[in-house]
This record gives sequence, structure tokens and C-alpha cells, in this order.
Amino acid sequence: SLIPVILAGGKGERFWPVSRKHRPKQFLCLDGSGQSLLQNTANRLLQLCDSWENLWVCTSLQLADGVEEQLPQLPEANLLAEPEGRDTAPALAWATLEVCKRYGEDAVIGFFPADHWIGNEPAYRQTIEAAVQQAIAQPAIVTLGIKPNYPSTGYGYIEQGEKTGTFNDLPVYRVNCFREKPDTATAQSFIDQGNFSWNSGMFIFRAGVVLKELQTHAPEILEPLQAKGIAAYSELPKISIDYALMEKTQLAYVLPADFGWDDLGDWNAMSRLLQGDQPNVELANHVCLDSTNAILYNTAEDEVIVTIGLEDIVVVRDRNVTLIVKKDRTQDIKKVLGQIKDNP
Ligand code: GDD
Ligand code: MG
Repeated sequence: SLIPVILAGGKGERFWPVSRKHRPKQFLCLDGSGQSLLQNTANRLLQLCDSWENLWVCTSLQLADGVEEQLPQLPEANLLAEPEGRDTAPALAWATLEVCKRYGEDAVIGFFPADHWIGNEPAYRQTIEAAVQQAIAQPAIVTLGIKPNYPSTGYGYIEQGEKTGTFNDLPVYRVNCFREKPDTATAQSFIDQGNFSWNSGMFIFRAGVVLKELQTHAPEILEPLQAKGIAAYSELPKISIDYALMEKTQLAYVLPADFGWDDLGDWNAMSRLLQGDQPNVELANHVCLDSTNAILYNTAEDEVIVTIGLEDIVVVRDRNVTLIVKKDRTQDIKKVLGQIKDNP
């Protein structure tokens, strides 16, 4: 069976100002389900691992209280709190070592981001079960590939190689090449070639397999952790698992993931999420006249946003902050956060 580890240490800065330091994106209810992204992720994974005893969360110390509050059933020993965020490679390495201590080298671990939207949950489970079978069958780091529909520079790209098997009625392919966050021209050339998918950010593997791969490709992360445990954290490089391991390993496999997926990366994802239902995001108290392609989000019930004749704009009102940004500049929110003193 599967030991899922939820990676929940991100800051979610591109969802500011609703996402703040102690209440980042993964703690928010963004999809109208009444549950936070983290709670939805945990509930989805519980169906794959049977019990809270087998579910783990890796986050930062700063967010650990928030995780406990949101997931009261999570056993304390399954909450890994990093003293500081070092990006996903140290998080994955540390969590893999801890899981290995409890369940042994043959345990199949799955890493799952805390902030994704999944459309078709039965198809999601079928795909992950297939990935688990692949991870058992061979030394493998299994990725799930999403069909790309534009040359995004915010994702990893996976080049699909030969087919190596079928599990749970789904084909599995070898990965020829993994390339994290290419520039737009490179991303476009990948899409034109037709055999590339986006990396979903989920990874499934046997603990022992990844520890061996880290030893080969990222000993500067693994060895200090083995020697000193969490005390090594401050000396670890800040790097994501995509650069540290996935671009280098020869053991990557990919399963086409056809279950409806969005990584809810920024405010534009809100309109994708609610497309079909309504042209604008209307989770707000607002009046909107002749405003097309606008995302309006207001957490203050007793205050009103009024827009007239606006196009392609995002307006977010939350407590002491109002954000007004053109839709194609939402990636730049990160850049101004350093200049804002009061960002509790
Ligand atoms: N514990 C911990 N510590 N978790 C972290 C840390 C950290 O220092 N940094 C990020 N995370 C968590 C985030 O909360 C998120 O759930 C997940 O790890 C992925 O981190 P992101 O920062 O969101 O990565 P990304 O979106 O830029 O890129 C990754 O995901 C894409 C798909 O959404 C990569 O794997 C890409 O290749 C992939 O396409
Ligand atoms: Mg992300």
C-alpha cells in the first residue's frame, strides 16, 4: 500500500493578499467546497492509504500549528516540521528518511503537493494505484504527466519515451528527459514536439530507491541529513527536487494523468476553476457592470467592490489590503511582498 506525504511548506505568495504568512494558500478554501486545499488533499489520500496512521505531512515550523488545527486527526509523529523552508529537495529527502525508519526501504511513498485541484477522484485513484504498482515492479520514480495546453514556464516538462508496461489498465512510459521550468521558447518547442507532458508535481517511489538516487545525485542533501538529522537543515542547499533529482535520474517513469488537474498557481486559476459555471469569480460582495474577464474576490462582507467597464483585471480585497492587478501580471505579486511591512 501507499504512504502518502503531503508537502505543505509553500508560501503561496501568488495568492496574496488572501494568502498570508501564517495562513498560506493551502490553508484556504478556494474552490467553494468548504474545505481547505490541504484538507481536500488529505481526504483524497486517505482513500489510498486506509488510515490517518499512514498519512504524513511535511511543512515548516511556522505552519505546523496551522496544519494541526486543520488536520486534528493527523498523528503527531506524522507531522514533520522543518525549521526553515529549504524547498522541496531537502523536504523530500528528510521525509523519505523518516518514513524509511518506520516502514523500511520497500515502503512505497507518494509525495503530493498540498495545493492542487483534482477533477475526477476515481480516475485519480486509479492512476495513483497504477503508479504504486509500477514502483513495486521496478526501481522507479513515477511521475504523473499532464497534457499541456500552453507553453507555461511555471511547470516541469517530461519527455515520454518507450512504453514499458500497463498497470491498472493504464500505460507506463520511460522518461527520456525531465526539464524544470524552461523558458517560453523551449516550452513551445516541447509542446510542438508532441511527446511532452507537464509534471504534476506528484512522485511515487520505494523509499530505498530514492535514497540511493539521492546518494548518487544529491549527496550534499542526503549525507548531512543522515549524519545529523534535522540539525543539518540550515546547511542544506535551497533547491527543488525537480532540479536536484528529477533532471538527473535515469529511473523516471511517467503515467499519463487524465483526471482533471490544476495547480491553482495564481489568481488566474480561480477563473479556470469556476469556468463553465460563471465567467467571473463571484465569491465576493461586489457590483460589477460591463466588466469582462475580471476576477473579483472580497472577504469583507460589509464592504462592497464596484467595478465598471473593466477588462482582464483582478481585484482582491482582504482585511487591510486591496490588490488591483492586470491578469497577465499576477505572477509578479511575489515581487512586491518584500516592500510591504504589514504582511501578517
Ligand atoms: N515541506 C515543504 N518545504 N514543502 C514545500 C517547500 C518547503 O520548503 N517548498 C514548497 N513546498 C510545497 C508547496 O507547498 C507545494 O505543495 C509543493 O511543495 C510544490 O512546491 P511549489 O513551490 O508549488 O512548486 P512549483 O509549483 O513551483 O513546481 C512544482 O510543481 C509543478 C506542478 O504544480 C514542480 O514539481 C514542477 O515540476 C511542477 O510542474
Ligand atoms: Mg506549485
